[in-house]
Amino acid sequence: MNVNDKFNLKDNLAIITGGAGLLGKQHVEALLEAECNVVVLDINDKALVTLKEHCFAKYTKKILTLNVDITKEVEILEAKSTIYNEFKKFPNILINNAAIDPKFEKDSKINQSRLENFDLFQWNLELSVGLSAAMLCSKIFGYEMAQNGRGVILNIASDLGIIAPNQNLYKQDGIPDAEQNVKPVTYSVIKHGLIGLTKYIATYWAHKGVRCNAFAPGGVYNKHPKEFVDKVSALIPLNRMAQVDEYKASIVFLCSDASSYMNGATLNMDGGRSTW
Ligand SMILES: NC(=O)c1ccc[n+]([C@@H]2O[C@H](COP(=O)([O-])OP(=O)(O)OC[C@H]3O[C@@H](n4cnc5c(N)ncnc54)[C@H](O)[C@@H]3O)[C@@H](O)[C@H]2O)c1
Repeated sequence: MNVNDKFNLKDNLAIITGGAGLLGKQHVEALLEAECNVVVLDINDKALVTLKEHCFAKYTKKILTLNVDITKEVEILEAKSTIYNEFKKFPNILINNAAIDPKFEKDSKINQSRLENFDLFQWNLELSVGLSAAMLCSKIFGYEMAQNGRGVILNIASDLGIIAPNQNLYKQDGIPDAEQNVKPVTYSVIKHGLIGLTKYIATYWAHKGVRCNAFAPGGVYNKHPKEFVDKVSALIPLNRMAQVDEYKASIVFLCSDASSYMNGATLNMDGGRSTW
């Protein structure tokens, strides 16, 4: 097979959780560009509509957007039926991408992010989206892939699934240490947990033709304050944050036959941050 053909996803059907978000949109477009049909599960109705209109206008491959809360198993099961009715098959690619992703907010006065103040409700909420739902979607759609003898599950981790957050990045002048915002403990636990889930699934269904890998991207520039960008860039050998569309080729690689011998691995793409 010609090497370019290995990246082609014609006749494949992918499902992407949190596909209406900042990076999810990029994953959606990457797969549509690789000729894959795509289903998006998200709870942000407005963003789903915008995404659908954008993709309808730009791509010939089919996109189905569904408002599904992936923390609710019953909603995922309903989505599974809807997808089958629409495509007459189940997805052979699953990207577990959704998260409650706390963004850097320079002026935030909230210190609930700190470990000593961290609330169990918030812990359960973030884990239910970032980790439990990845297990549920893998259970439901991975099972069908195993039955069908073919599939790929990709878990979106982070460079912070490999290294601990450097809390100095989030420090703001003039605020006492005990009140400084931090990257929450949930982020580390979820992202390390996704890498564990990846290894579990990679060995669980390998004999059924289902591969599972994790992707660990570094931070994407999204109009962050210059002070933050400068501080984080200094921790990255390439000396910059990622551009939003810079992961698209890797997503196609990881979901396609181009990575056919990759299983249980974590691909980190972080400008070298986790290497330093
Ligand atoms: N943005 C970055 O710099 C960066 C870096 C490394 C890793 N990541 C990871 O990439 C993934 C995407 O990040 P992002 O920046 O696009 O985040 P985002 O917040 O823009 O998107 C997350 C999406 O998940 C959806 N979502 C939340 N709860 C849901 C639920 N219960 N059911 C269904 N959908 C739900 C949201 O509506 C949103 O559209 C996350 O896993 C994140 O941790 C992001």
